[in-house]
Amino acid sequence: MSTIVVAVDGPAGSGKSSISKAVARKLGYAYLDTGAAYRAFAWHAAHSGVELADEASVVSALPSFEFAEATDPDAFSVRVGATDVTDVIRTHEVSGIVSHVARVPEVRAALTAIFRDIAVTTENPGIVIEGRDITTVVAPDAEVRILLTASEEVRMGRRSAELTGHSAQAVGEQLKARDRADSRVVDFMTAADGVTTVDSTDLNFDETVDAVIDVIHSRL
Ligand code: C5P
Repeated sequence: MSTIVVAVDGPAGSGKSSISKAVARKLGYAYLDTGAAYRAFAWHAAHSGVELADEASVVSALPSFEFAEATDPDAFSVRVGATDVTDVIRTHEVSGIVSHVARVPEVRAALTAIFRDIAVTTENPGIVIEGRDITTVVAPDAEVRILLTASEEVRMGRRSAELTGHSAQAVGEQLKARDRADSRVVDFMTAADGVTTVDSTDLNFDETVDAVIDVIHSRL
């Protein structure tokens, strides 16, 4: 049986994680958050004493990276080895280092292989995979490919509402710096050929979920 793949890309704070998770839940699909894997690897690299500015040092942490992500949208969790890192990978500290590891080609290749493996082994009828390069690199042949966007102001507002303990300004600056660094590696601000853009700037959560499901139905 072949699994239907819904690829969703977008910048930080576009709401793609929560929207993709809700869409997967509604359709009975699996849900794969690829940003969580990059975050988990950044956490692992930092705990392995890696020199983040040195690509070879970052790559040396790959063989010991034992990553597991539960793809049930109702029981989402991320583990590295025996450690549950579901919450720690969301911290401001991990957000501040993740782009350093995500720009390394060997890291991208290793994680891409893991994502494709998860997609082909899922037992659900479909899987929603979200990230930055899903529509272009990880699953360019996906049945449904969506770019989820929102204005920078709205994205910053959503992210600072999610994180406590840091000023809105600090969160906003980090988000902009991360988008800048990430967009040097992959273009997730413009839709590639055949990719449908959903702009959530003026939509609430439920309206955005419905807009994404409408796109999926129009493609299947
Ligand atoms: O989506 P999220 O903000 O959790 O992603 C965290 C980081 O992981 C991004 O800032 C980016 O550096 C990296 N990432 C990536 N490619 C993906 C998903 C995430 O480079 N497909």
